[in-house]
Amino acid sequence: MDGNGRWAKKRSLNRIRGHRAGTESVRDIVRASREFGIQVLTLYAFSTENWKRPAREVSALFELLKDFLRSELEEMMENGIHLNAIGDIERFPGDVLEVLRHAMDATKANQRMTLNLALSYGARDELARAARLLAQKCVNGKMCVEDITPEAISAHLYTVNLPDPDLLIRTGGEARLSNFLLWQLSYAEIFFTSVMWPDFRKEIFLQAILDFQQRERRFGRIGAQLIESPR
Ligand code: IPE
Ligand code: MG
Repeated sequence: MDGNGRWAKKRSLNRIRGHRAGTESVRDIVRASREFGIQVLTLYAFSTENWKRPAREVSALFELLKDFLRSELEEMMENGIHLNAIGDIERFPGDVLEVLRHAMDATKANQRMTLNLALSYGARDELARAARLLAQKCVNGKMCVEDITPEAISAHLYTVNLPDPDLLIRTGGEARLSNFLLWQLSYAEIFFTSVMWPDFRKEIFLQAILDFQQRERRFGRIGAQLIESPR
């Protein structure tokens, strides 16, 4: 969700106003995802690198997150949305964690859609954590080194139980991954747009999905093989 700061700057507003406008896009995109029948929507809300931003901006982002979680809980319940978080959430202040845990707990039985928030998330941290977990199991004799397969690695990431993303959308005109789901995005289709996140709404989201539907996903094979078995 990139481009909040630049969206604000262009309007001579402060960056926080851009983040606030961005939460309106979050609402819109969550609703649209539900409507389109998307099973998992992951939003990169706060990266491990974002901790380096000015303290005022970081705490404003926390306040916006708390407000969002509180104001959306009812709608999440009505719409069968399960809230999940990936990342080193323990780094968050207690009050933020409390609101987050409450929302995750309240929605845990909901099954229609998963809204997955990447919070204090970094893919390199996630992979290093998986390596530590696997190494510890080997040391404890619960696993042997031969068992460290791609499936075992996937099972030790924050995204365990979640499918790999089919489509990655990056707004704000940058064409990079910025330490996001590096392992899980191996076969994702990527959609880059110069639209700033506060302007990213249902119409352009639909455009990204229509674009995705035109792609031929071969997963390393040739086109003719896909008719027999699509995966
Ligand atoms: C939002 O956009 C990303 C978050 C960390 C919430 P930015 O804050 O990165 O906006 P730009 O890149 O400065 O425009
Ligand atoms: Mg940015």
